[in-house]
Amino acid sequence: MSKPSSQPFCASSIIGTGSYMPEKVMTNEDISKFVDTSDEWITTRTGIKERRIAAADEATSDLASEAARRAMAAAGVTAEEIQLIIVATVTPDMFFPSTACFVQKKIGASNAVCFDVSAACSGFLYALQVARHFINTGNRTTALVIGAEKLSSLVNWKDRNTCVLFGDGAGAVVIRRAEEGTDASGRVLSTVMGSDGNLADLLKVPGGASFCPITPENVATRPNTIHMEGRETFKHAVTRMLEASQQALEIAGLTAADVALVIPHQANARIIGAIAERLGLPPERVFMNLDKYGNTSAATIPVALDEANKAGRLNKGDVVLLVAFGGGFTWASSVVRW
Ligand code: ACO
Repeated sequence: MSKPSSQPFCASSIIGTGSYMPEKVMTNEDISKFVDTSDEWITTRTGIKERRIAAADEATSDLASEAARRAMAAAGVTAEEIQLIIVATVTPDMFFPSTACFVQKKIGASNAVCFDVSAACSGFLYALQVARHFINTGNRTTALVIGAEKLSSLVNWKDRNTCVLFGDGAGAVVIRRAEEGTDASGRVLSTVMGSDGNLADLLKVPGGASFCPITPENVATRPNTIHMEGRETFKHAVTRMLEASQQALEIAGLTAADVALVIPHQANARIIGAIAERLGLPPERVFMNLDKYGNTSAATIPVALDEANKAGRLNKGDVVLLVAFGGGFTWASSVVRW
Protein backbone atom coordinates (compact mmCIF):
# COMPACT_ATOMS: atom_id res chain seq x y z
CA MET A 1 0.00 0.00 0.00
CA SER A 2 1.42 3.39 -0.93
CA LYS A 3 1.68 5.61 2.10
CA PRO A 4 1.11 9.36 1.87
CA SER A 5 4.18 11.14 3.24
CA SER A 6 2.21 13.84 4.98
CA GLN A 7 -1.32 15.21 5.10
CA PRO A 8 -2.37 18.86 5.17
CA PHE A 9 -4.09 20.45 8.14
CA CYS A 10 -7.35 18.57 8.45
CA ALA A 11 -10.13 21.07 8.61
CA SER A 12 -13.18 18.82 8.25
CA SER A 13 -15.38 17.91 11.18
CA ILE A 14 -18.32 15.53 11.52
CA ILE A 15 -21.03 17.72 13.03
CA GLY A 16 -24.02 15.34 12.91
CA THR A 17 -24.78 11.65 12.44
CA GLY A 18 -27.95 9.83 11.42
CA SER A 19 -29.09 6.39 10.35
CA TYR A 20 -32.14 4.58 9.09
CA MET A 21 -32.74 0.84 9.17
CA PRO A 22 -35.76 -0.70 7.41
CA GLU A 23 -38.45 -2.11 9.71
CA LYS A 24 -38.56 -5.69 8.48
CA VAL A 25 -36.35 -8.05 10.50
CA MET A 26 -35.14 -11.33 8.99
CA THR A 27 -33.70 -13.67 11.62
CA ASN A 28 -31.32 -16.60 11.16
CA GLU A 29 -34.28 -18.86 11.92
CA ASP A 30 -36.21 -17.27 9.05
CA ILE A 31 -33.32 -17.97 6.63
CA SER A 32 -32.98 -21.56 7.84
CA LYS A 33 -36.50 -22.15 6.53
CA PHE A 34 -35.44 -21.65 2.89
CA VAL A 35 -31.73 -22.66 2.75
CA ASP A 36 -29.77 -25.42 4.49
CA THR A 37 -28.30 -23.44 7.38
CA SER A 38 -28.86 -22.86 11.08
CA ASP A 39 -28.79 -20.09 13.66
CA GLU A 40 -25.91 -21.95 15.31
CA TRP A 41 -23.75 -21.97 12.10
CA ILE A 42 -24.42 -18.34 11.25
CA THR A 43 -23.87 -17.10 14.82
CA THR A 44 -20.61 -18.98 15.41
CA ARG A 45 -19.11 -18.27 11.94
CA THR A 46 -20.20 -14.63 11.64
CA GLY A 47 -21.78 -13.22 14.83
CA ILE A 48 -24.91 -12.25 12.87
CA LYS A 49 -28.32 -12.99 14.45
CA GLU A 50 -30.64 -10.96 12.22
CA ARG A 51 -30.66 -8.36 9.45
CA ARG A 52 -33.07 -5.72 8.10
CA ILE A 53 -34.73 -6.05 4.71
CA ALA A 54 -36.07 -3.00 2.85
CA ALA A 55 -39.63 -3.05 1.52
CA ALA A 56 -40.17 -3.75 -2.18
CA ASP A 57 -41.05 -0.09 -2.79
CA GLU A 58 -38.08 1.25 -0.75
CA ALA A 59 -35.06 2.11 -2.91
CA THR A 60 -31.54 2.84 -1.66
CA SER A 61 -32.20 6.58 -2.02
CA ASP A 62 -35.20 6.27 0.35
CA LEU A 63 -32.99 4.72 3.05
CA ALA A 64 -30.26 7.27 2.33
CA SER A 65 -32.65 10.24 2.43
CA GLU A 66 -34.03 9.30 5.83
CA ALA A 67 -30.53 8.82 7.26
CA ALA A 68 -29.57 12.19 5.74
CA ARG A 69 -32.59 13.98 7.29
CA ARG A 70 -31.64 12.57 10.70
CA ALA A 71 -27.99 13.60 10.31
CA MET A 72 -29.02 17.13 9.24
CA ALA A 73 -31.39 17.41 12.22
CA ALA A 74 -28.61 16.29 14.57
CA ALA A 75 -26.19 18.79 13.01
CA GLY A 76 -28.76 21.59 13.01
CA VAL A 77 -28.28 22.35 9.30
CA THR A 78 -30.96 22.89 6.67
CA ALA A 79 -31.09 21.14 3.30
CA GLU A 80 -30.26 24.48 1.59
CA GLU A 81 -26.94 24.62 3.47
CA ILE A 82 -25.76 21.30 1.98
CA GLN A 83 -23.33 21.99 -0.87
CA LEU A 84 -22.21 18.45 -1.65
CA ILE A 85 -23.89 15.05 -1.40
CA ILE A 86 -21.84 11.89 -1.88
CA VAL A 87 -23.56 8.52 -1.62
CA ALA A 88 -21.36 5.45 -1.26
CA THR A 89 -23.27 2.45 -2.57
CA VAL A 90 -23.04 -0.70 -4.68
CA THR A 91 -26.83 -0.87 -4.90
CA PRO A 92 -27.76 2.39 -6.61
CA ASP A 93 -31.40 3.06 -7.46
CA MET A 94 -30.42 2.93 -11.15
CA PHE A 95 -27.23 2.90 -13.27
CA PHE A 96 -27.91 6.60 -13.65
CA PRO A 97 -28.84 9.17 -12.47
CA SER A 98 -26.73 8.80 -9.35
CA THR A 99 -28.44 7.85 -6.10
CA ALA A 100 -27.06 11.12 -4.68
CA CYS A 101 -29.20 13.04 -7.21
CA PHE A 102 -32.31 11.17 -6.02
CA VAL A 103 -31.38 12.02 -2.43
CA GLN A 104 -30.97 15.67 -3.41
CA LYS A 105 -34.48 15.69 -4.82
CA LYS A 106 -36.00 13.85 -1.83
CA ILE A 107 -34.45 16.08 0.85
CA GLY A 108 -34.64 19.32 -1.16
CA ALA A 109 -30.90 20.10 -1.10
CA SER A 110 -31.08 22.32 -4.16
CA ASN A 111 -27.62 23.89 -3.68
CA ALA A 112 -25.71 20.60 -3.64
CA VAL A 113 -23.41 18.96 -6.17
CA CYS A 114 -24.23 15.25 -6.15
CA PHE A 115 -22.51 12.02 -7.15
CA ASP A 116 -21.96 8.42 -6.03
CA VAL A 117 -18.80 6.58 -5.01
CA SER A 118 -18.35 2.84 -5.67
CA ALA A 119 -15.88 1.11 -3.37
CA ALA A 120 -18.10 -1.63 -1.90
CA CYS A 121 -17.75 -1.93 1.88
CA SER A 122 -15.00 0.73 1.96
CA GLY A 123 -17.29 3.16 0.14
CA PHE A 124 -18.22 5.34 3.10
CA LEU A 125 -14.60 6.01 4.09
CA TYR A 126 -13.68 6.65 0.44
CA ALA A 127 -16.59 9.13 0.20
CA LEU A 128 -15.59 10.77 3.48
CA GLN A 129 -12.10 11.35 2.11
CA VAL A 130 -13.44 12.77 -1.18
CA ALA A 131 -15.71 15.16 0.74
CA ARG A 132 -12.83 16.10 3.01
CA HIS A 133 -10.75 17.04 -0.04
CA PHE A 134 -13.55 19.30 -1.30
CA ILE A 135 -13.77 20.97 2.09
CA ASN A 136 -10.05 21.21 2.86
CA THR A 137 -9.33 22.82 -0.51
CA GLY A 138 -11.99 25.44 0.11
CA ASN A 139 -14.28 24.21 -2.65
CA ARG A 140 -17.27 23.53 -0.36
CA THR A 141 -17.98 24.08 3.35
CA THR A 142 -20.83 21.68 4.19
CA ALA A 143 -21.37 18.16 2.87
CA LEU A 144 -23.52 15.10 3.40
CA VAL A 145 -21.64 11.81 3.21
CA ILE A 146 -23.92 8.79 3.09
CA GLY A 147 -23.40 5.03 3.02
CA ALA A 148 -26.58 3.29 1.86
CA GLU A 149 -27.37 -0.17 0.56
CA LYS A 150 -30.26 -2.38 -0.44
CA LEU A 151 -28.10 -5.50 -0.61
CA SER A 152 -31.18 -7.72 -0.45
CA SER A 153 -31.58 -6.80 -4.13
CA LEU A 154 -28.17 -8.38 -4.96
CA VAL A 155 -28.42 -11.50 -2.81
CA ASN A 156 -28.99 -14.93 -4.28
CA TRP A 157 -31.43 -16.24 -1.67
CA LYS A 158 -30.61 -19.83 -2.72
CA ASP A 159 -26.86 -19.47 -1.95
CA ARG A 160 -26.25 -20.21 1.73
CA ASN A 161 -22.60 -19.10 1.41
CA THR A 162 -23.66 -15.49 0.94
CA CYS A 163 -27.35 -14.95 1.68
CA VAL A 164 -26.85 -15.19 5.45
CA LEU A 165 -24.32 -12.34 5.51
CA PHE A 166 -26.00 -9.25 4.11
CA GLY A 167 -28.68 -6.70 5.02
CA ASP A 168 -30.10 -3.30 4.10
CA GLY A 169 -29.67 0.10 5.77
CA ALA A 170 -28.21 3.59 5.60
CA GLY A 171 -26.07 5.92 7.67
CA ALA A 172 -25.06 9.53 7.08
CA VAL A 173 -22.86 12.25 8.46
CA VAL A 174 -22.80 16.00 7.90
CA ILE A 175 -19.25 17.31 7.66
CA ARG A 176 -18.28 20.95 7.76
CA ARG A 177 -15.11 23.01 7.52
CA ALA A 178 -13.59 23.74 10.93
CA GLU A 179 -11.31 26.72 11.31
CA GLU A 180 -7.71 26.14 12.36
CA GLY A 181 -7.18 26.77 16.05
CA THR A 182 -10.76 25.86 17.03
CA ASP A 183 -11.43 22.68 19.01
CA ALA A 184 -14.37 21.50 16.90
CA SER A 185 -15.57 18.03 17.82
CA GLY A 186 -15.59 15.29 15.18
CA ARG A 187 -12.45 16.41 13.36
CA VAL A 188 -11.08 13.91 10.83
CA LEU A 189 -7.37 13.68 11.66
CA SER A 190 -6.20 11.26 8.99
CA THR A 191 -7.34 8.88 6.26
CA VAL A 192 -5.54 6.16 4.36
CA MET A 193 -6.98 4.28 1.42
CA GLY A 194 -5.83 1.35 -0.71
CA SER A 195 -7.03 -0.84 -3.57
CA ASP A 196 -5.93 -4.06 -5.27
CA GLY A 197 -7.78 -4.68 -8.53
CA ASN A 198 -5.78 -7.89 -9.08
CA LEU A 199 -8.10 -9.48 -6.51
CA ALA A 200 -11.32 -8.11 -8.02
CA ASP A 201 -12.65 -11.58 -8.86
CA LEU A 202 -12.75 -12.73 -5.24
CA LEU A 203 -15.78 -10.62 -4.38
CA LYS A 204 -18.08 -9.35 -7.10
CA VAL A 205 -21.45 -9.09 -8.76
CA PRO A 206 -20.33 -10.21 -12.23
CA GLY A 207 -23.52 -9.75 -14.21
CA GLY A 208 -26.13 -7.17 -15.02
CA ALA A 209 -23.77 -4.48 -16.34
CA SER A 210 -21.58 -4.04 -19.46
CA PHE A 211 -19.26 -7.00 -18.83
CA CYS A 212 -22.05 -9.55 -18.66
CA PRO A 213 -25.51 -8.21 -19.45
CA ILE A 214 -28.43 -10.33 -18.31
CA THR A 215 -29.78 -12.41 -21.18
CA PRO A 216 -32.46 -15.09 -21.41
CA GLU A 217 -29.57 -17.61 -21.70
CA ASN A 218 -27.69 -16.62 -18.52
CA VAL A 219 -30.45 -15.36 -16.24
CA ALA A 220 -30.91 -18.74 -14.52
CA THR A 221 -27.26 -18.73 -13.30
CA ARG A 222 -27.99 -15.49 -11.36
CA PRO A 223 -24.87 -13.55 -12.48
CA ASN A 224 -26.42 -10.37 -11.05
CA THR A 225 -25.94 -11.58 -7.45
CA ILE A 226 -23.03 -11.49 -4.99
CA HIS A 227 -20.24 -14.02 -5.60
CA MET A 228 -17.60 -14.30 -2.89
CA GLU A 229 -14.56 -16.44 -2.07
CA GLY A 230 -15.20 -16.20 1.67
CA ARG A 231 -11.96 -17.62 3.08
CA GLU A 232 -9.67 -15.58 0.82
CA THR A 233 -11.69 -12.42 1.49
CA PHE A 234 -11.43 -13.08 5.22
CA LYS A 235 -7.60 -13.33 5.13
CA HIS A 236 -7.12 -10.16 3.11
CA ALA A 237 -9.65 -8.28 5.23
CA VAL A 238 -7.72 -8.93 8.44
CA THR A 239 -4.32 -8.02 6.94
CA ARG A 240 -5.44 -4.87 5.14
CA MET A 241 -7.66 -3.50 7.91
CA LEU A 242 -4.88 -3.95 10.44
CA GLU A 243 -2.31 -2.28 8.15
CA ALA A 244 -4.66 0.62 7.31
CA SER A 245 -5.52 1.19 10.99
CA GLN A 246 -1.87 1.35 11.96
CA GLN A 247 -1.06 3.77 9.14
CA ALA A 248 -4.01 6.06 9.87
CA LEU A 249 -3.00 6.19 13.54
CA GLU A 250 0.64 6.85 12.65
CA ILE A 251 -0.30 9.75 10.33
CA ALA A 252 -2.46 11.21 13.13
CA GLY A 253 0.54 10.92 15.49
CA LEU A 254 -1.27 8.37 17.67
CA THR A 255 -1.06 4.70 18.62
CA ALA A 256 -3.70 2.03 19.28
CA ALA A 257 -3.34 2.78 22.99
CA ASP A 258 -4.90 6.21 22.32
CA VAL A 259 -8.04 4.74 20.70
CA ALA A 260 -11.19 5.09 22.80
CA LEU A 261 -13.38 3.23 20.30
CA VAL A 262 -12.74 1.39 17.05
CA ILE A 263 -15.69 1.24 14.66
CA PRO A 264 -14.79 -1.42 12.10
CA HIS A 265 -16.71 -2.50 9.01
CA GLN A 266 -19.31 -4.98 10.28
CA ALA A 267 -18.77 -8.08 8.12
CA ASN A 268 -17.80 -10.80 10.56
CA ALA A 269 -17.21 -10.83 14.33
CA ARG A 270 -14.19 -13.08 13.83
CA ILE A 271 -12.54 -10.56 11.48
CA ILE A 272 -13.23 -7.77 13.98
CA GLY A 273 -11.92 -9.89 16.87
CA ALA A 274 -8.69 -10.69 15.00
CA ILE A 275 -8.03 -7.01 14.26
CA ALA A 276 -8.83 -5.90 17.81
CA GLU A 277 -6.53 -8.55 19.23
CA ARG A 278 -3.64 -7.53 16.96
CA LEU A 279 -4.16 -3.86 17.84
CA GLY A 280 -4.24 -4.83 21.53
CA LEU A 281 -7.73 -3.39 22.03
CA PRO A 282 -10.08 -4.98 24.60
CA PRO A 283 -13.69 -5.80 23.55
CA GLU A 284 -15.13 -2.75 25.37
CA ARG A 285 -13.20 -0.48 22.98
CA VAL A 286 -14.59 -2.22 19.86
CA PHE A 287 -18.05 -1.33 18.54
CA MET A 288 -20.17 -4.12 17.09
CA ASN A 289 -23.78 -4.13 15.92
CA LEU A 290 -23.55 -6.78 13.20
CA ASP A 291 -25.64 -9.14 15.33
CA LYS A 292 -28.66 -6.89 14.53
CA TYR A 293 -27.92 -5.83 10.95
CA GLY A 294 -25.41 -8.17 9.27
CA ASN A 295 -23.13 -6.70 6.62
CA THR A 296 -24.74 -3.61 5.07
CA SER A 297 -21.57 -2.83 3.04
CA ALA A 298 -21.03 0.95 2.72
CA ALA A 299 -23.63 1.61 5.43
CA THR A 300 -22.01 -0.32 8.29
CA ILE A 301 -19.61 2.39 9.49
CA PRO A 302 -21.95 5.42 9.42
CA VAL A 303 -24.75 3.36 11.03
CA ALA A 304 -22.39 2.13 13.75
CA LEU A 305 -20.98 5.64 14.24
CA ASP A 306 -24.49 7.00 14.70
CA GLU A 307 -25.44 4.24 17.15
CA ALA A 308 -22.24 4.72 19.16
CA ASN A 309 -22.87 8.48 19.19
CA LYS A 310 -26.52 8.14 20.28
CA ALA A 311 -25.57 5.54 22.91
CA GLY A 312 -23.18 8.04 24.51
CA ARG A 313 -20.11 5.96 23.73
CA LEU A 314 -18.30 8.91 22.14
CA ASN A 315 -17.07 11.61 24.50
CA LYS A 316 -15.58 14.90 23.41
CA GLY A 317 -11.87 14.42 22.72
CA ASP A 318 -12.11 10.64 22.22
CA VAL A 319 -9.98 9.14 19.45
CA VAL A 320 -12.23 7.06 17.18
CA LEU A 321 -10.72 4.68 14.64
CA LEU A 322 -12.83 3.80 11.57
CA VAL A 323 -11.65 0.97 9.32
CA ALA A 324 -13.18 -0.88 6.38
CA PHE A 325 -12.49 -3.53 3.75
CA GLY A 326 -14.51 -4.54 0.72
CA GLY A 327 -14.81 -5.66 -2.87
CA GLY A 328 -12.21 -4.37 -5.30
CA PHE A 329 -10.40 -5.18 -3.05
CA THR A 330 -10.56 -1.82 -1.35
CA TRP A 331 -9.71 -0.75 2.18
CA ALA A 332 -9.53 2.46 4.16
CA SER A 333 -9.13 3.83 7.66
CA SER A 334 -9.82 7.20 9.26
CA VAL A 335 -8.96 8.59 12.67
CA VAL A 336 -11.46 11.07 14.13
CA ARG A 337 -11.05 13.21 17.26
CA TRP A 338 -14.59 13.32 18.70
N1 ACO B 1 -24.82 -22.59 6.74
C1 ACO B 1 -24.24 -23.77 6.94
N2 ACO B 1 -23.10 -24.14 6.34
C2 ACO B 1 -22.52 -23.26 5.50
C3 ACO B 1 -23.07 -21.99 5.26
C4 ACO B 1 -24.27 -21.67 5.90
N3 ACO B 1 -24.88 -20.48 5.74
N4 ACO B 1 -22.27 -21.32 4.40
C5 ACO B 1 -21.25 -22.14 4.12
N5 ACO B 1 -21.39 -23.31 4.78
C6 ACO B 1 -20.52 -24.48 4.77
C7 ACO B 1 -19.69 -24.55 3.52
O1 ACO B 1 -20.40 -25.19 2.49
C8 ACO B 1 -18.51 -25.37 4.00
O2 ACO B 1 -18.86 -26.71 4.00
P1 ACO B 1 -17.80 -27.85 3.55
O3 ACO B 1 -16.66 -27.73 4.53
O4 ACO B 1 -18.59 -29.10 3.66
O5 ACO B 1 -17.39 -27.48 2.16
C9 ACO B 1 -18.35 -24.94 5.45
O6 ACO B 1 -19.59 -24.36 5.83
C10 ACO B 1 -17.22 -23.94 5.67
O7 ACO B 1 -17.33 -22.90 4.70
P2 ACO B 1 -16.30 -21.72 4.65
O8 ACO B 1 -16.65 -20.80 3.54
O9 ACO B 1 -14.91 -22.23 4.71
O10 ACO B 1 -16.62 -21.01 6.07
P3 ACO B 1 -15.86 -19.86 6.79
O11 ACO B 1 -15.52 -20.27 8.14
O12 ACO B 1 -14.76 -19.27 5.94
O13 ACO B 1 -17.01 -18.75 6.92
C11 ACO B 1 -17.70 -16.69 5.84
C12 ACO B 1 -17.62 -18.23 5.75
C13 ACO B 1 -18.60 -16.36 7.01
C14 ACO B 1 -18.29 -16.18 4.54
C15 ACO B 1 -16.29 -16.09 6.07
O14 ACO B 1 -15.38 -16.64 5.18
C16 ACO B 1 -16.26 -14.59 5.94
O15 ACO B 1 -16.80 -13.86 6.74
N6 ACO B 1 -15.52 -14.06 4.93
C17 ACO B 1 -15.33 -12.62 4.76
C18 ACO B 1 -16.56 -11.88 4.32
C19 ACO B 1 -16.18 -10.39 4.18
O16 ACO B 1 -15.45 -9.86 4.97
N7 ACO B 1 -16.63 -9.73 3.15
C20 ACO B 1 -16.06 -8.38 3.00
C21 ACO B 1 -16.84 -7.39 2.61
S1 ACO B 1 -18.32 -7.78 1.71
C22 ACO B 1 -18.43 -6.58 0.46
O17 ACO B 1 -17.50 -5.89 0.13
C23 ACO B 1 -19.76 -6.48 -0.27
